[in-house]
Amino acid sequence: MKVEVVLTEADIAQEFAEAMQARDLPEKFFFWSPRSAMGWKTLTSEPDLYGGLGETWKAIAAGAGALAQHFGGRVPVISFGAGDGERDRLLMTALQRAGCECQYFPVDSSQPMLEIACAGADDEDFETTGIKADISSPVHLVYCADAAEPPRLFIMSGNTISSFDPLAEIRYLAQGLRGGDRLIVDGELYDEHKTMARRDNAAARKFIFTMLSGVGIESDDGEIRFNHKRDERHEGLHLITRSFRAARDLSATVGGEEVSLERGERIGLNFQYTYTPESFRWLVGEQGGLEILEEYISPDGRFLTAICKK
Ligand SMILES: C[S@@+](CC[C@H](N)C(=O)[O-])C[C@H]1O[C@@H](n2cnc3c(N)ncnc32)[C@H](O)[C@@H]1O
Repeated sequence: MKVEVVLTEADIAQEFAEAMQARDLPEKFFFWSPRSAMGWKTLTSEPDLYGGLGETWKAIAAGAGALAQHFGGRVPVISFGAGDGERDRLLMTALQRAGCECQYFPVDSSQPMLEIACAGADDEDFETTGIKADISSPVHLVYCADAAEPPRLFIMSGNTISSFDPLAEIRYLAQGLRGGDRLIVDGELYDEHKTMARRDNAAARKFIFTMLSGVGIESDDGEIRFNHKRDERHEGLHLITRSFRAARDLSATVGGEEVSLERGERIGLNFQYTYTPESFRWLVGEQGGLEILEEYISPDGRFLTAICKK
């Protein structure tokens, strides 16, 4: 297994301690430990986690012939926040059948997730180099994009863009695109009734507590609260935030250091955006300056996936 390290474990440990002191824990810490990676595996086995997104990827894979033709005989596939890489492998298998050789570069900040993605691709005999990097960093994104010469196929799937500021993230992604490159990116569509219910449930809370229990915070130490806000920077951007509220005075241990939390104190947890179809098209087209060549709405109407170019 080949993995290049841009973001070291020492960097992540340091950032984690600082984030805990700042009471604000971004997405990457929820996938960091082997236990969290196992917890993610359990969560992804829930059919409602991604609903019809799997069907969308089958449809994209069914159209792999046109993509293969665009790329000629060889395509570097660079997947940002690759997770277990399952969607990437589905498409790469279809590209291979269409006569295109794939070189795979899964990018993730989580070593255990990266190992799962690399092992899955190695097992299917794809030439694979994992890159351990922070995809919220424009510098890391450029480094990862430079792993191969254009034209390249970039992927950011599973509503991954929405755990960052999507207005900034789409610009960072777009900056790395050159002529001939393609980007497949998806966003979850907002539903007044279902968006919150899909997050505020026992399985999702369990996943969050897998991370929190790693620093000594257990489910009876407090509660997780969900909140819905609108992002006023553009019509149709919906932000779901989550926070942990301590029910009593607590002490967490991060990297050997003790962090005290007073009763009633909150820690901001990872957030997620969801969109109206118009606002997602605006995000990609206007904010990112990309042209949408094809778009797929999942059969359950839950995800909009765009194939774009600069
Ligand atoms: C929601 S999962 C999506 C996984 C996959 N793309 C899919 O479609 O199922 C998000 C992935 O992004 C990774 N991730 C989160 N924040 C990251 C960051 N700042 N840099 C790199 N990877 C990150 C997580 O470790 C996780 O594997």
